[in-house]
Amino acid sequence: MSVRGSICAALLACACIASRAAAPAAPVIHPGSWPAAHSRGLVDERTEARISALLVQLSVAEKVGQVIQADVAHITPDDLRRYPLGSVLAGGGAGVNGNKRASAAQWLQMAREFRAVSLEGRPDHVPIPVMFGIDAVHGHNNVAGAVIYPHNIGLGAAHDAELVRRIGAATAEEMSVTGIDWDFAPALPVPQDPRWGRTYEGYSQDPALVSRYAAAAVEGLQGAAELDGKQQSGHVAATAKHYLGDGATQDGVDQGDSRVSEAELIRTHARGYVAAIDAGVLTVMASYSSWQGQKAHGNQALLTGVLKGRMGFEGFVVGDWNGHGQLPGCSNEHCAAAFNAGIDMFMAPDGWRALYGHTLEDVRSGAIPLSRLDDAVRRILRVKFRLGLFAAQRPYEGRAALFASAAHRALAREAVRKSLVLLKNDGVLPIRANARVLVTGPGADNIGMQCGGWTISWQGDDTSNADFPQGESIQAGLEAALAAGGGRLVDGHDLGGNDRPDVAVVVYGEKPYAEMFGDLQLALYNVGMTLEQLRKLRRQGIPVVTVFLSGRPLWARPELDSSNAFVAAWLPGTEGGGIADVLVADAAGRPRHDFSGSLSFEWPNGAVPVRGPLSAVPAAGKYPLGFGLSYAGSGYARPAGSTASPKSAAGAAATR
Ligand code: GLC
Repeated sequence: MSVRGSICAALLACACIASRAAAPAAPVIHPGSWPAAHSRGLVDERTEARISALLVQLSVAEKVGQVIQADVAHITPDDLRRYPLGSVLAGGGAGVNGNKRASAAQWLQMAREFRAVSLEGRPDHVPIPVMFGIDAVHGHNNVAGAVIYPHNIGLGAAHDAELVRRIGAATAEEMSVTGIDWDFAPALPVPQDPRWGRTYEGYSQDPALVSRYAAAAVEGLQGAAELDGKQQSGHVAATAKHYLGDGATQDGVDQGDSRVSEAELIRTHARGYVAAIDAGVLTVMASYSSWQGQKAHGNQALLTGVLKGRMGFEGFVVGDWNGHGQLPGCSNEHCAAAFNAGIDMFMAPDGWRALYGHTLEDVRSGAIPLSRLDDAVRRILRVKFRLGLFAAQRPYEGRAALFASAAHRALAREAVRKSLVLLKNDGVLPIRANARVLVTGPGADNIGMQCGGWTISWQGDDTSNADFPQGESIQAGLEAALAAGGGRLVDGHDLGGNDRPDVAVVVYGEKPYAEMFGDLQLALYNVGMTLEQLRKLRRQGIPVVTVFLSGRPLWARPELDSSNAFVAAWLPGTEGGGIADVLVADAAGRPRHDFSGSLSFEWPNGAVPVRGPLSAVPAAGKYPLGFGLSYAGSGYARPAGSTASPKSAAGAAATR
């Protein structure tokens, strides 16, 4: 070895010793301590034989293609002729050729163009259908005109797993109409700190509820685990995400570090994955977050030892958007470490070309074992076969009548009704059908604010009511309900005469956001509705009903105290009429629908603003899990099977 070489070797040796001294000890995972599970319905002898026959035909280059996914904003169908990628995605707001407001027909045309090239018979090419992924996280929310359902936090408050299953099935139908066969849903975090910007993507802070919903959501999207050829019946691949511990990060920092124990990971954050795997979930998405300082995208013990070993997951793991690039020593264009740890498909929206070249080099050099590549490709092909992508027929494609159908809108409206949680009511609710009602506030006639993030665009903050021709604002829903009962809206200018309102419904809360853009330093949040506006109405003797739109529980004690009734409406989606269904009575003053929702997250209501983790707030300063008032009872609308301890509202109110 040359002098220069020996010096480098010595320096390298020193550096390794130093780095080993500096690096935190990699946390130990004990797969045998984790719950066992097994993918139901994924592996059968005939399909595995078909996969084996394909694998021997595939060149290493085409195998590498299968494990890379690009974003449609950065790849064209023609690119697939040179780079035979196995999947494309439309990331939040990607649109069709940059048009976020493309129609369902335009989405279908794009999907078919990519698929056609992937299935071409070309020299040195084995036709394998491309898989098309999208975030349909509360309906087919990237596509203009789709029905938008309540975000997961609202579905959690409904405590109705069958409702979640039905919404999954309806969403899968609308996706199938547009030729998209893979949904990056359900998100299965168990958010522990509402300062996290993705709290609303979680069903609950209660792992038992998340576990029940995980199976329901997967079965709704995918159909029964044993169902073969899923796309032929309007079903899609589901994705359990983000594995593992995305809702456990310190202070709720998005993509942060989860410093909980292995036992807590198992007890709280793994439960949804066990249920999803047992329900046959076809894909899992890795989390950006870390556990004990180690990025999930590079945690081989969790990805391979636990997920694929102990939990028997036989589908494939997709990385999150350039998540592999966050690993030490990696970039968006090169990362053998993530693949060797157990990522089966890179989500490489923009760097996919270079990643393809580097990954091919890594396989040829042995940095990525061929056996690892073959395992990943087998898993991907297994999913494509189960989905029915190799079948010629896609019977749901182009069936426009299924898109935003009356049945789907009715389902969404039912979900809105069931998601509402009544935190306070001094008797002002229900509103008589013949009342004069002032509806005001930034969320009154704002369907985009009803929907929140992941709607038309990634952040959901650049839409208008015109983007939701199929939707109904909260104000419009109230107006329709009152018109039916002899009542009407008043504009609030003439508070003394005939237009004096009997009651004011004030709609306010959080403006749309997604992911890290929603992170809060404090659980306290200025909800944009000055207290003075509420108090002025009260001083004028006009009772106030607050309809609060938020992606999480927030400290809003002053608003609670200034309201005669306070409804947590979460992010209800396009069917704002569901709120009027519960707030406005019939002509005889009887409720047309009662409140049935109850908290799936604790809600701070102590006298002082919450600064820091909600978990540090004593029970006396929070509405507990399962809390929810109703017209019918003095107690809870206590959900069947809830983990909440039964207490009467009176009891609860007394301690507030
Ligand atoms: C995002 C999200 C993930 C989503 C993916 C594709 O960064 O973390 O939930 O599925 O990218 O849009």
